[in-house]
Amino acid sequence: MNLVGAPIDRVDGRRKITGTARYAAETPLPGLTYAVMVESTIPAGTIAAVDAAAATRASGVIAVLTYENAPKVEQHKVAGMTDRNLPLLQDRIVRYDRQPVAVVVADTFERATDAASLVRIRYDTSVPALSLAHGSGYHPEHSHGDEPSVYERGNVDAAFAGADVKIDRTYTTPVEHHNPMEPHATVATWDGDVLTVYDATQGVFGTRSRLAVAFGIPPANVRVVCPFVGGGFGSKGSAWAHTVLAAMAARAVKRPVKLVLARPQMFGSVGYRPATIQRVTLGAKRDGTLVSTLHEVRSQTSIFDEFVEPSAELTKMLYAVPNVRTINTVVPLNAATPTFMRAPGESSGSFALESAMDELAYAVGLDPLEVRLRNHADSDPSKQLPFSSKSLRECYSVGAERFGWSRRVPRARSMRDGGLLVGMGVASATYPTNRSAASALVRLSSDGTAHVFAGTQDLGTGAYTVFSQVAAEELGIPVSSVRFELGDTNFPMGPVSGGSQTTASVGNAVSVAARSARDRAIGLALGDPQSSLHGHDADAIDVRDGRIFLRDRPDVGDTYAAILGRHPQGEIEERGDARPGDEKTAFSMHAFGAQFAEVRVDPELGTVRVVKMVGAFASGRILNAKTARSQYLGGMVWGLSMALHEITRTDARSGRIMNANLADYLVPVNKDVPSDFEAYIVPEDDPNVNPLGVKGIGEIGIVGAAAAIANAVYHATGTRVRDLPIQPEKLV
Ligand code: MOS
Repeated sequence: MNLVGAPIDRVDGRRKITGTARYAAETPLPGLTYAVMVESTIPAGTIAAVDAAAATRASGVIAVLTYENAPKVEQHKVAGMTDRNLPLLQDRIVRYDRQPVAVVVADTFERATDAASLVRIRYDTSVPALSLAHGSGYHPEHSHGDEPSVYERGNVDAAFAGADVKIDRTYTTPVEHHNPMEPHATVATWDGDVLTVYDATQGVFGTRSRLAVAFGIPPANVRVVCPFVGGGFGSKGSAWAHTVLAAMAARAVKRPVKLVLARPQMFGSVGYRPATIQRVTLGAKRDGTLVSTLHEVRSQTSIFDEFVEPSAELTKMLYAVPNVRTINTVVPLNAATPTFMRAPGESSGSFALESAMDELAYAVGLDPLEVRLRNHADSDPSKQLPFSSKSLRECYSVGAERFGWSRRVPRARSMRDGGLLVGMGVASATYPTNRSAASALVRLSSDGTAHVFAGTQDLGTGAYTVFSQVAAEELGIPVSSVRFELGDTNFPMGPVSGGSQTTASVGNAVSVAARSARDRAIGLALGDPQSSLHGHDADAIDVRDGRIFLRDRPDVGDTYAAILGRHPQGEIEERGDARPGDEKTAFSMHAFGAQFAEVRVDPELGTVRVVKMVGAFASGRILNAKTARSQYLGGMVWGLSMALHEITRTDARSGRIMNANLADYLVPVNKDVPSDFEAYIVPEDDPNVNPLGVKGIGEIGIVGAAAAIANAVYHATGTRVRDLPIQPEKLV
C-alpha cells in the first residue's frame, strides 16, 4: 500500500480552480425559469390575506404560488434521521420567522426578485414561544440514534453528595448558522411524471426519498444530481423546503426552475445549531479523580418538528467515571427546525464538559492535562466495550510537545506579554466512528483506465481524491488512470455524507469493487491461452502500474489494457457492497484528539486574540495526509469562531433574526487565524474498526476547540466565561 496515505493534490482541484466544476446553481437547462422565495416577517401567527396582484402583473412573472393556490404535497416526514417536516405552502399557519410563504417564478432572476418584493401579506400575529430558558420542554425519546435521552449509570446524587470537590456550573451556547460558501440551490425539471433535480445536498438518496414522498411518486421517478458541493457542514444533510418548492414550481409552470437562496435566506429554513443551556456537575476526589458527572442539556427545537442537540453523548464515554447521568430536554420554540451542524452535540457539549474539567483542575490544584490523564478511560465505560483503538494519550503528549505546554505557568492571570495577558488552555476531543451500507461500481476498460461510480457526495472534503486513491491502490494503477464520479442517484447507493461516515462507508465499498474488478481481470488472464500468465496460480500474482505479473518473475506479465483488449466486451464491470459488520457489538469506535490554544487578552478592552493553536488527532488510517490536515484545520478554525465570533441574534420582542447576513454574523477571516496554527496526525493502526481501518475526520477538528480557547482565556484573565461567544464585554 503506497498510494493510499499519500498527500496528493485534489483530483478535482483543477476543475474547481478553473471554474469548470459545475455546482447545482450553474446547471444550464433550456427554458430555465427563476424562482424566488418570499419569507414570513413574523415568527408566529396566521396569514390573514395575500395580495399577489402587483407581483402577478409584474413583467416576466410566470407564477406566484402561495398557500391559496399551491398544489397539494405531503409536508410531513416519513422516515429517517435526516428527514424533516417542511413548510410547503400547504396552510396559512406561520410557525417561525423567515418561513416560506410564497414563491415567485419569472423569466429572469432579477424580475423574480423584484416581483417577490411586491407580494403583500397581512398577518394575524400570535404570541411566539421564544425563550429556551423559560419555555416548557420535554424529554425526547432519544437524544441521538437509539440513545435514550435520560441515561444513568451508578448513582450520581449519592456520589456527588459525598465528593471531596464539587463543581456545579451552567454553560450556554448560542444559535449558530452554517453558512457554507455555496448557498443552498436547486434546479428542478419534470418530464411527465419523472423529476430530475440538481441540488446542493449532502445526500442525493435522502433528497430523492423526500421528493418522492412529497409528490407521491416512486423514488425511481426521481433523479438527484450533485457532483459538487461548496460546503455543507450538516445544513445540506436534509432536504429542505426550497428543494421541494423548486420542484413544485417547475411542475406548476411546466418549465425547469432554478431556486437559489440569498444569503439572508441561509438563516431561514435550512437548519442551524440550536442554542443550549447545559448544567454540568463534577464530583471528584482531592487527587482529581472523578466520582460523578451530571450533564443536563436543554436545547431548542421547532414547534412542528423535533431535533435534539446531543451535547451529552461524549460525557457518557470520555472519562472513566463510575456515576454518570445525562439528560436531554428539548423546548419547542417559534423558530425554524434546528439540524446537525459540524459535530452536532460533541462541539457544543465539549465546550461545557471540557470547561468544567478545567474548573476542576483549578479546584484541585492540578495541571489541566494531568486531570484529564488521571481520568483517562481505558475502555468505554458507557458501553463496557474495549475501544477499537484509542490514542488519546499520544494526542495529549504530541500536542503538548508541539504546543509547548511546559511554558505554561499554572496560576491564572500570571503570564504577561507587555500589557497583554497571556493564557494557555487545553481540551480533549472525541467523535464516534460511524458507518453505513454503501456500494460502488468499477468499470475497467481496454485503455487501462478505471471508471468508478458511487452515489455519494464530496462536500469539499476530498472524497473524490481519497476514493480515487483507494481504487488506484486496489487495482494497481496510477491515480491518474482513475476517473471517479459521484453525486447521482443513478449510481450505486451511498449514505448521507454526515456523521463523518463517508470515507468509512463508501471507501470500503470502493475497495471491495476495485478488488473484485482486479481479481476478475486476473482470472481472465490466467484462463486466457493468449496470456503469458495462462495457467498460473492466482496466489502468485501481483499488480502494479496497470500490469499483472508473477511476483517471483516480474518479467512474466500482462497489462489490464491487453487483457481487456482481448475480452469480447472490451471492459469489465464489478460492483462492491460494504456494510457494517459486528464490530459495533465488539468495540466502541471513536476518534480522539487534544486541542491546545494560546491567547492574548487586552485587559482594558477585553479583546481576545488566539495567537497559537495546536490540535493532535488520531483517527485510524489516514488516506490522504493533505486533505485530512485540511479537515482538521477547518474544524479548528470553526472552533475558534465558535469561541469568539458566532451568534445568531433573535429580537426578544419581535422574534425576528436580527443579523441574517455575513456583515453582522461574524465569522473569522484570515487575520483572525494565527499563522501558528497546526493540526498533527497521530499515527494509529486500527484493525477492528472496518476493513480500511479509517475513522471519520470531518468533525473531530471542531470538538474541544472552543473549550481550549475559553480555558486559555480563563488562564489569561482569571475570568471564566461560560456563555459563548466570548465577547469583549464579558471580560471587562
Ligand atoms: Mo455533519 S453535521 O453530520 O454533516
